[in-house]
Amino acid sequence: MEKVVIMGAGRVGETTAQFLAEQELCREVVLIDIREDAPQGVALDILQTAPFFRFDTEVRGSNDPAAMAGADLVVITAGIPRKPGMSRSDVLETNAAIIDGIVDDVLCHAPRASILVVSNPVDVLTWRVWQRTGWPRERVMGQAGVLDASRMATFIAMETGFSSRDITTIVLGGHGDSMVPLPRFCTINGIPVSHFVSEERIRDIIQRTRDGGAEILALRKNSSAYDAPGASVATMVDAISHNRRRLLPCVAILQGEYGQDAIAMGVPCVLGQSGLERVVELEFTEEEQRWFDGSARAVAADIDRLKALTGN
Ligand code: 2OP
Repeated sequence: MEKVVIMGAGRVGETTAQFLAEQELCREVVLIDIREDAPQGVALDILQTAPFFRFDTEVRGSNDPAAMAGADLVVITAGIPRKPGMSRSDVLETNAAIIDGIVDDVLCHAPRASILVVSNPVDVLTWRVWQRTGWPRERVMGQAGVLDASRMATFIAMETGFSSRDITTIVLGGHGDSMVPLPRFCTINGIPVSHFVSEERIRDIIQRTRDGGAEILALRKNSSAYDAPGASVATMVDAISHNRRRLLPCVAILQGEYGQDAIAMGVPCVLGQSGLERVVELEFTEEEQRWFDGSARAVAADIDRLKALTGN
């Protein structure tokens, strides 16, 4: 990829830009933010790490939406973060208005880009971007499951003492309290996690994964997570940029898969050069299906709330 634009030069935007630049996942990273001078400052700071990491990715900041012209991918991190005690849905109204403005800018200045949504509530906002752009779902996706799966893998590594390199996890559903971690598909180098961890401890890990964002928010107090979210976005960009055809849990628009239609939820997807190339369907157990359906109801309720707020 030539050019990736990051909307929002807050902490997630900044960390994402640093990873993209450092790993040379594109030639140019442009940070755009409405706060005067802020994206320019962030870009300059990141550029000054280039001699350490030996990258020559161009990084710049701008307050002008026209700077997104020619973008292959627009990553949306802008929006207000939740405060301790708030759910991701509590920031829906404000962030939906911000996202609408960004979508209009993308339609005007970068109509051939794909869009990767990171702002919360990510499922509903991904749906909103898809609805407002009218683009095919291949070009509109959200980041949630890569982060949630990395949290679950970290907790399994902490529990078992094994290297997190060997741990594979999968977390689907909405990126909220109803997310669906699937221990049946979690392995340590191919060996089911249940071989090493008791059912009770797996249940604790599932709950800690669901609360993963809130746990960090409660500890940091004045900020949501941003290191692992930035690394998660970079993982998705790497898959697209290098046409890796990686199978990753992403927020996708469902069009009949999993019995759902016109809703955005976390499902296993193939990411390659044309974006979200394929949704992979899994056969669920009764319990997993119940969890997934409950998660779909929660996301659908938020989508209905947004439709009521915006009148469309
Ligand atoms: C998280 O889970 C903020 O949604 C983000 O940390």
